[in-house]
Amino acid sequence: METNTPAAEKTGFGSKIGFILAAAGSAVGLGNIWRFPYLAAKYGGGIFLLIYLILAVTFGFSLMITEIAIGRRTGKSVIGAYESISKKFSPLCWLAAFVPVIITPYYCVIGGWVLKYLVTFVKGAGSSAAGDGSFFTGFIGGASEPAVYFLLFLLATAAVVMLGVEKGIERISKFMMPLLVLLTLGIAVYTLTLDGAAAGLRYYLLPNFSGFTFPMLLKTVAAAMGQLFYSMSLAMGIMVTYGSYMRKEDSLEQSVRQIEIFDTGIAILAGLIIVPAVFVFSGGDASALNAGPSLMFITLPNVFSTMAGGQIVGAVFFILVALAAMTSSISLMETVVSIIMEKFRLRRIPACLITVLVCLLLGMLSVLGYSAWSNVKLIGMQFLDFFDFISNNIMMPVVALLTCILIGWVVKPKYVEEEVLASQKSFRARMLLSVMLRYVCPVCMVIILLTPFVTDI
Ligand code: PFF
Repeated sequence: METNTPAAEKTGFGSKIGFILAAAGSAVGLGNIWRFPYLAAKYGGGIFLLIYLILAVTFGFSLMITEIAIGRRTGKSVIGAYESISKKFSPLCWLAAFVPVIITPYYCVIGGWVLKYLVTFVKGAGSSAAGDGSFFTGFIGGASEPAVYFLLFLLATAAVVMLGVEKGIERISKFMMPLLVLLTLGIAVYTLTLDGAAAGLRYYLLPNFSGFTFPMLLKTVAAAMGQLFYSMSLAMGIMVTYGSYMRKEDSLEQSVRQIEIFDTGIAILAGLIIVPAVFVFSGGDASALNAGPSLMFITLPNVFSTMAGGQIVGAVFFILVALAAMTSSISLMETVVSIIMEKFRLRRIPACLITVLVCLLLGMLSVLGYSAWSNVKLIGMQFLDFFDFISNNIMMPVVALLTCILIGWVVKPKYVEEEVLASQKSFRARMLLSVMLRYVCPVCMVIILLTPFVTDI
């Protein structure tokens, strides 16, 4: 079968479970661990969880099945895929392609931070990371250490991508994802047995209606929507790329449901670890729960330092975060590599090397943004924050909005339906998909674009 043309190097996932675990690996990432628990705690606990679940099975489902169907139907990278649907939408191709180019480098920089903490805890020096945050600021402000850890994370990601879809991505996902679930379950069970954890659990899971006004409800819906979008790796070309590697005989509908269960399950479990643990540590003060890097790199090391067995729990926790971040960065890099392979008709290894070089250059901007170039600001932001802002707050919602217009109104939802029906007899969510793609999702995207507070965490 194999010929010598680069296009013939396009291979795919060898099994349904391989595809599901790889796509779930992409979805389960830093977003599940440092964003979801915080948002759930901030927006009324159980109310947020309920709204999130409803949105996941409607809005999230529709966008994800659409992207995977586009990939599988065209069999192309994100640029080739959108181009072959409509030439008029070529700006969409380029915009969609740029999202992973911008995200991969800075995601690997943060992956490097996780590695540093992993090494610190495994060495038994976790308590040095506790305190007022000077360990963290000292590390990211350092001259060479953050660059070394960034390089390590980037090269580890590239090594998997170089091995290819089946031998690299599928194999590593089949190993990493079950391990990630086991570790998450293990720490969740442990933190829930700590004295005082029950109050945190109640705060996290029970709906809190006191002071829950109508504007608050709108904000909660908007926050849940933004989080869903981020968490499910939508509008960054990943699901189109992974879809192009999916086997024609596997059910799309069932696969998407399983990826969603995985992603949401890990997010809820992460909350079960983080919210009660921070509660115990702070003596029930919910405001101790913050989001983003400071939760992971400052608050949690403090929590671990006061917890019995905290060294071990901390080490296991950072192993699980590293696994989650690695499977996401692999999917981001694969998306870029697939574009380069297709557009420049290159083989996998040279395409990977070019990608690593681009990531190195862009990633170093984020690294230096905390040290030598800390006074350089782009619209008032450091490089990393700037890359995060333009990709998540602007480019991704625009890509999703244009995708909804393209599929919902130009080629019509039957484009997705036909692909779904290629591998199953009936499509239960046919009406839901149509209504979502044509009306609800575009409105949601406009709301996400217009409400920066959604992602302002
Ligand atoms: N879905 C992954 C996560 O939740 O971390 C991957 C990801 C999302 C990467 C958003 C980057 C990003 F901007």
